[in-house]
Amino acid sequence: MNCEEIIPLFLAEEIKNIVRDISRRIIKDAIKEGNNKLNFVTVLEGARRFSDELIGEIYCQTCAGFNINNYNIKVSSYCGMTSGKLKLERGIEADLSEKEVIILEDIVDSGKTIQFLADYLLKDKQVSRVKIASLLSKPSRRRVNIQIDYLGKEIPDVFVVGYGLDKDGIYRNLNYIGRVKS
Ligand code: IMP
Ligand code: MG
Repeated sequence: MNCEEIIPLFLAEEIKNIVRDISRRIIKDAIKEGNNKLNFVTVLEGARRFSDELIGEIYCQTCAGFNINNYNIKVSSYCGMTSGKLKLERGIEADLSEKEVIILEDIVDSGKTIQFLADYLLKDKQVSRVKIASLLSKPSRRRVNIQIDYLGKEIPDVFVVGYGLDKDGIYRNLNYIGRVKS
């Protein structure tokens, strides 16, 4: 039995509004750039729900007028002896050379995951440009300098769960985002 207390930070309705706002900004930029093709790279598992709902919003708002592709990617980090070392668990097979991509992430913490994935996409997959959309960010935890093109909300240095975010594999399915009371 799990007895941790989760203190709500963003309720379902608020998350919906945040996701809708990000989708509008992405559409606006795409239209400005005369581009109706969007290639998303979703960082599993955490960003799956954000990605599903964001892409659903974009379909809805553009009356399915955009050509959207989504590619899933997975990284793992090793603690202990090789602290902080990231490994690509699942890469992308499709040819993305010379294409622009938007990485969809649940939360940016140190920034190392995003930096690692941007390196992979630019160097190994030869994409022409990487943009980043993240539902949440903890700026006070940043270790590498990265730019988030589409950010939902900044939060302080607290551990949050729900809406895809987990703690040791649990809480992903909560409809709200909350911090784990320590
Ligand atoms: P970074 O590489 O340090 O930026 O870490 C980003 C990854 O760590 C995210 O993709 C999440 O999977 C995980 N993470 C960081 N902070 C949290 C949190 O507060 N709750 C759940 N997962 C988190
Ligand atoms: Mg993640």
